[in-house]
Amino acid sequence: MRQLIPTSRRDFLRTTAAVGGALTLGLGSNACAPSTPRPLSILILGGTNFTGPHLVNNALERGHSVSIFTRGRTQPTIHQALFEQVEHLIGDRSDDLEALKGRTWDAVIDNSGSRVEWTTASAELLKDAADVYMYTSSTGVYLPYLGLDIKEETELVLEDPVEVQRRSYGVMKSLSEIEARKAFGEDRAIIVRPTYIVGPADPTNRFQYWPIRIARGGEVLVPGMADDPVQYIDVRDLVELMIRLLENRTAGTFNVAGPASHLGMHAFVRGVHEAVSGEVTWVMADDYEFLREHEVRFVIPWILPVDNYVGSARINIERAKAAGLTFRSLNQTCVDTLEWWNSDAVTDERRETAFNNPRGLSPQREADVIAAWKARQG
Ligand SMILES: NC(=O)c1ccc[n+]([C@@H]2O[C@H](COP(=O)([O-])OP(=O)(O)OC[C@H]3O[C@@H](n4cnc5c(N)ncnc54)[C@H](OP(=O)(O)O)[C@@H]3O)[C@@H](O)[C@H]2O)c1
Repeated sequence: MRQLIPTSRRDFLRTTAAVGGALTLGLGSNACAPSTPRPLSILILGGTNFTGPHLVNNALERGHSVSIFTRGRTQPTIHQALFEQVEHLIGDRSDDLEALKGRTWDAVIDNSGSRVEWTTASAELLKDAADVYMYTSSTGVYLPYLGLDIKEETELVLEDPVEVQRRSYGVMKSLSEIEARKAFGEDRAIIVRPTYIVGPADPTNRFQYWPIRIARGGEVLVPGMADDPVQYIDVRDLVELMIRLLENRTAGTFNVAGPASHLGMHAFVRGVHEAVSGEVTWVMADDYEFLREHEVRFVIPWILPVDNYVGSARINIERAKAAGLTFRSLNQTCVDTLEWWNSDAVTDERRETAFNNPRGLSPQREADVIAAWKARQG
């Protein structure tokens, strides 16, 4: 097995220093990635949908070699040319891991984990075939988000209430984290917990609602209080941190959210406006009761901060910052997201239908809520 920077796992354990619950080595608490890192061989379980192509891009730029493991169905919509430099292993996490057998890598990134059994099987199979195992989890593990400064040590809910039929996303991620740690141990497992991931190639139509909507102009509904916190993470900042953690071989668990410090909802929409312009008239609907009545609860990154979601945008990110997380500006994220949205990477059909979801803020629904808000104001 090829080793990462330490010459042996024993050396690693000897030189390990605790950094806010993270185990780092060699570089002490200086989280800067080496400018010319030692090349690593990285296996990505996944790799072709959203974060995968950005991970591939960052890893290759940093001089690492990459293998990806997928079923071969999803084709990347960005950075396609880079995939010629990537080894593509085909299989299925449900029942066919043959392509991973008899091979070794420096690091595994379990990026496609959506079932606990998948992580159990791959981590068990690869525990002697790779030095470290990174699991891409989610801040969803903290649901219900009851704290106002949610740190990595928060006790997680590991069982869904009996009335819930399907395993919830957060519980699935929490149990998967446990499986990764069980196979690789605390000193060789890296868990990243991103909040909403945004930026070019985002397959959801969540965050991009805002740059697209504000660029269109007119009366724009802005739900929530001026200072309601919002958090999101630009996919490129996320993958930079992930590769940096591998290069620095920093074990531990990391919340990953931005921006660097508190951002309120009104400052957020004004920041988006600066990036995309558009003739807008803001309609600030700053009454939680009204928003509840009209079922306006999630317009990501804004979430109605009540009940189980009080702390969903109050995720503590100090540990990731100490490990080297940096942040693109909101302006840059919006400009790049709009540029991607208007490129050939997005189909006309998607552009035309993206915001028609009646449960989201479709143009009609937004107009209805604005009308109700104005009627209420008298
Ligand atoms: N989006 C967010 O806001 C957000 C927030 C927090 C955490 N996360 C987490 O971030 C991770 C990244 O997701 P991503 O879609 O960006 O990852 P990705 O690595 O870009 O793509 C996921 C890949 O998994 C492959 N795949 C799906 N089912 C498979 C199977 N049965 N066997 C083998 N491969 C399979 C797909 O390719 P094929 O179809 O070809 O198999 C696809 O390439 C996920 O774990 C997600 O839970 C996302």
